[in-house]
Amino acid sequence: MLERSELADNALQALHDEDYDRPFNTQTLNADTLIFTRGRPGQSLDGDWNFCVDLLDTGLRQKWFAVTPEEPEERIEPWDYDPYMGETVPVPSCWQMQKEKWYFFEGSAWYTRPVDHTSKPGRRQVLRIGAAQYDCKVFLNGTFIGNHYGGSTPFCVELTDTLQAGQNWLMLCVNNTRTLDRVPMRNTDWFNYGGVYREVTLFDLPQTIIRDMFVRLEEGHVRVSVRVDGADQAAHLSIPELGVETPVPLTGGAGDITLDISPELWSPDHPKLYDVHLTAGEDRVSDRIGFRSIRREGTEILLNGDPIFLRGISVHEDDEETGKVTSEEDLRRRFSHAKELGCNFLRLAHYPHHERAAELADELGLMLWEEVPVYWAIDFANPDTLRDAANQLRELVRRDRNRASVIIWSIGNENPDTDARLEFMRHLAELAKSEDPTRLTSAACLVNHARLKIEDRLAAHIDIIGLNEYYGWYEENFEELGEIGRNSAPDRPVVISETGADGDSSAKGPERGLFSLAYQEEVYQKQIATLRELSYVKGMSPWILYDFRVERRQGIFQRGWNRKGLIAADKDTKKPAFHVLAAYYAERAAQEEQRAASRKGPPA
Ligand code: GCU
Repeated sequence: MLERSELADNALQALHDEDYDRPFNTQTLNADTLIFTRGRPGQSLDGDWNFCVDLLDTGLRQKWFAVTPEEPEERIEPWDYDPYMGETVPVPSCWQMQKEKWYFFEGSAWYTRPVDHTSKPGRRQVLRIGAAQYDCKVFLNGTFIGNHYGGSTPFCVELTDTLQAGQNWLMLCVNNTRTLDRVPMRNTDWFNYGGVYREVTLFDLPQTIIRDMFVRLEEGHVRVSVRVDGADQAAHLSIPELGVETPVPLTGGAGDITLDISPELWSPDHPKLYDVHLTAGEDRVSDRIGFRSIRREGTEILLNGDPIFLRGISVHEDDEETGKVTSEEDLRRRFSHAKELGCNFLRLAHYPHHERAAELADELGLMLWEEVPVYWAIDFANPDTLRDAANQLRELVRRDRNRASVIIWSIGNENPDTDARLEFMRHLAELAKSEDPTRLTSAACLVNHARLKIEDRLAAHIDIIGLNEYYGWYEENFEELGEIGRNSAPDRPVVISETGADGDSSAKGPERGLFSLAYQEEVYQKQIATLRELSYVKGMSPWILYDFRVERRQGIFQRGWNRKGLIAADKDTKKPAFHVLAAYYAERAAQEEQRAASRKGPPA
């Protein structure tokens, strides 16, 4: 008779314990456990990991994380999974794109890989996961280390005290189940991918760790704020091109200095970046920083003091082949198409995109709207939901607030105007400002159709009113759009954060009517003809650059895709509406150049 281990006894008990996951939903990995990682060398843990889907959470119930490696014929318990052998998937990836049998899988999945470690006295090891959709529980050598909520923001976990010399086993339990206490909640118009879909890196660090460095132009001066773990002497800041070599005094690990320098200003036409280095003890980080100001004055958006019009387009993170995984090639293609469209702006909808997007936008001279997925129906009265949303916002801001390209933090999309929502969103708007007073806040609001006005109580708490309107598509009476325009007198800028129509560019697409390319083109023509007359509209990010995958679109012209792209899902086939918008943006760009020239006055 086989000896029963205490793990096996547990496996029997766990069959009747529906509270099995409470010990692992701690949310202990969050904005406060992030470290600054730019400019740091790290060990990539990308590549093939052992993988298993786990629909009923058998792994947490049976404690698969506590199973130790063993030859199958030596095992004394009939485990339902052996983490050390079996199928593998590449990291980063979305499991839906790896095998047909996982296309609609929603639940937990286990990732396991070995990590070799040579112990070095006085050094610390921190693991960083670029993103895991949706929540992630981290185990090392059978020990539960921590848990992160949030499907699109990075998180860090210190492994120092659990790593052992030689071989270690790292396990991640990732769960993409939609729930009622998070953002987004259960209903989204984008595909519910799952998995570790951004890079995993292990950092070997000194005792003193630089947790954060925030460098920005604030009220006309360059300010630098740093936070350092375990420091007892000043940090040192260097910006060689500006002749800056200065100590940053620390009090309780925090330092904040203002520099008397006048850097060249960053703008889409002049995307100037400076190398910035910070050392503290033996730790050292660096970043490439652009200095610029963005603010609003009445209904104007001012970049470095000059009024601008945001010629934008919305984008999802989505790809026919890779799902939500972003590659350098995919990003460069996205930005190249946006520039071809005549854009100086992109709305990265509806969640934080890969951090490389903002880094590349810094280099290429594109402005960005970044957003947390407070999307459609949310349980605004639930404190757990607010905790999740606030943490994701803080993680996004901490990750990208050194990026000059990011000019807008958006705290939501198309939420109903209720008291609970107003209280929830007011908190997020204030949080965004407290984390970063140098950027504008917004949200994609809805038109008040009953009163045919741009009217949302949230508008008083954000700098820019994002407006999603689909006259010509969901709203059929186009004349109302003009009426809304005339009825409204917003006291701050409006950006049309979404408008558009589906166009099926495949051979199955209709010649005319809804879902035809001709009708999509007509909607763009009519939208532009109306919107161009509204003086308080200071930007647009029509929906959307590319067709994208979504479960809820199963019409004969959709076939699992939202076809509002100006370019088809092949990220190559441009639709006629692309050229309509491009022509409008070319006209606007020419007008702006003339205005800029007249501001400068005649050449000397
Ligand atoms: C909504 C929503 C988008 C959605 C789009 C559509 O406004 O914000 O996420 O994809 O409309 O219906 O296509």
